[in-house]
Amino acid sequence: MTFGRSGLISLLCAAVALAQSPIWAQCGGDGFTGSTDCVSGTACTVLNTWFSQCIPVSVTSTIQSPPSSPSTSSVASSTPSSVSSPPPSPTSSSPQPTSTANDEGFVTTNGQKFSLNGEDYVVAGTNAYWLAQESDPDIETAFEDIVGAGLTTVRTMGFNDVTTPQEWGAYYQLWQNGTATFNTGAFGISRFDSVVASAKAHGIRLIVALVNNWSDFGGMDVYVSQLNPNGTHDTFYTDETIIAAYETYINNFVGRYVNETAIMAWELANEPRCAGSTGTPSANCDTTGSTINTWAQTISAYIKSIDPNHLVAIGDEGFFQEANPPTYPYAPYLGIDFVKNLEIPTLDFGTFHSYPESWGQQDNASAWGTQWIIDHATAQKNANKPVIMEEFGMLDNQADTYTGWWSDVVSSGLTGDLIWQAGSVLSDGPTPDDGYAVYPTGTIYPIMATAAAALKQRG
Ligand SMILES: *[C@@H]1O[C@H](CO)[C@@H](O)[C@H](O)[C@H]1NC(C)=O
Ligand SMILES: *[C@@H]1O[C@H](CO)[C@@H](O)[C@H](O)[C@H]1NC(C)=O
Ligand SMILES: *[C@@H]1O[C@H](CO)[C@@H](O)[C@H](O)[C@H]1NC(C)=O
Ligand SMILES: *[C@@H]1O[C@H](CO)[C@@H](O)[C@H](O)[C@H]1NC(C)=O
Ligand SMILES: *[C@@H]1O[C@H](CO)[C@@H](O)[C@H](O)[C@H]1NC(C)=O
Repeated sequence: MTFGRSGLISLLCAAVALAQSPIWAQCGGDGFTGSTDCVSGTACTVLNTWFSQCIPVSVTSTIQSPPSSPSTSSVASSTPSSVSSPPPSPTSSSPQPTSTANDEGFVTTNGQKFSLNGEDYVVAGTNAYWLAQESDPDIETAFEDIVGAGLTTVRTMGFNDVTTPQEWGAYYQLWQNGTATFNTGAFGISRFDSVVASAKAHGIRLIVALVNNWSDFGGMDVYVSQLNPNGTHDTFYTDETIIAAYETYINNFVGRYVNETAIMAWELANEPRCAGSTGTPSANCDTTGSTINTWAQTISAYIKSIDPNHLVAIGDEGFFQEANPPTYPYAPYLGIDFVKNLEIPTLDFGTFHSYPESWGQQDNASAWGTQWIIDHATAQKNANKPVIMEEFGMLDNQADTYTGWWSDVVSSGLTGDLIWQAGSVLSDGPTPDDGYAVYPTGTIYPIMATAAAALKQRG
């Protein structure tokens, strides 16, 4: 799933007349009835059929509309979050530990299971990409909600590449004229420290993706445009200067947390694929998987060389390369060979995502998703490594479909799962809802809690 931009925080909204929509607010899209007028300095920008957003004029040039083709997981890229207040000073953070029993030790693997201090560690979790963009008390609230549902693991993002410095939220790398500067300022890596500290206080382990395939929050395309202006999206995987720049970033980010037990795993990217914004892969990217496989070997070995403590995975959607593909996620189009990637020794576990409605399976979404789980559980057994369904989402019929899929996870033997995505109601209102967010007061939350308990019971 694309990490929407709407979780970003701004100071600009404070004095805005109500008739105008604030920065990052929704200003259009199918069924939208609110104000289409955006505050000064922002423009109402069409992201897709369902969603237009007030985006600062300075960044509209970098926004790419998600492709409308059903062949991607880019459904609505975001929906409006209310605008948060700036992060308070670090002294206002007062984590209330709810669990300290397992805050020692690193999560490891043991065959197809994860393990912590000699016991099975069960990945029953959620995504919450926006955490570092929030204030310390709001981060606390989010983790309290997640712990309240009995979840153990949260996947979030360890990237935000910008080309203009910002005085809100969190970004970790500023790109100017082909040079990247790691952000150690007030809106930089210290914000991620807060996420880690709060996760630890709540007994939660984090899975952290280090770059985005998508152009939300910077991503691969920023590296390419800064370092190889003639490059295409996939140049990210092969250009030696870009690989060196990404390794420098990894060294700064991962190196900071080498001894941090609250981190469970690093991921090489969120949803790497060959194709760029045109949707058409360049001839230089092997859609049957060798380009990204080679890159995954290089980057995972690099992470292991600087951080022997943490697990490493790709963060991909888990596409197969089958000779007679029943549907296109099993066909050689997208540059991922799940089975072959799982053989890479410096990758500890496999990841896959499931958005059947967005992948052309909307008429058969539930059954297709069940088979997708079973097929990845089979690959898990063959490789004898853990595999997790680390993102899944439906826009329709969530309760029935998720109930079925969570049951399939347990019965198939799949190691674990993380829903896309947990929502919380924070000091300034609900976190972004892209149509998939589940909130503590909603109907899915208790089903999620029951499923987490069932998975823990299975082990
Ligand atoms: C980037 O390059 C432009 C044009 O050469 C120059 O005006 C600007 O000062 C440079 N910015 C930085 C941060 O080096
Ligand atoms: C990019 O392409 C242009 C036009 O072909 C060429 O003049 C330029 O040297 C190229 N730049 C790089 C960095 O390769
Ligand atoms: C991590 O712990 C090791 C062993 O105690 C130590 O040598 C190293 O400096 C630590 N690294 C960081 C980044 O704190
Ligand atoms: C990868 O990113 C490109 C450019 O932002 C986007 O067009 C493409 O759909 C993305 N593919 C995914 C999510 O796999
Ligand atoms: C639905 O998906 C399942 C699993 O992939 C498949 O066996 C079945 O044939 C599909 N049904 C239809 C109508 O496409």
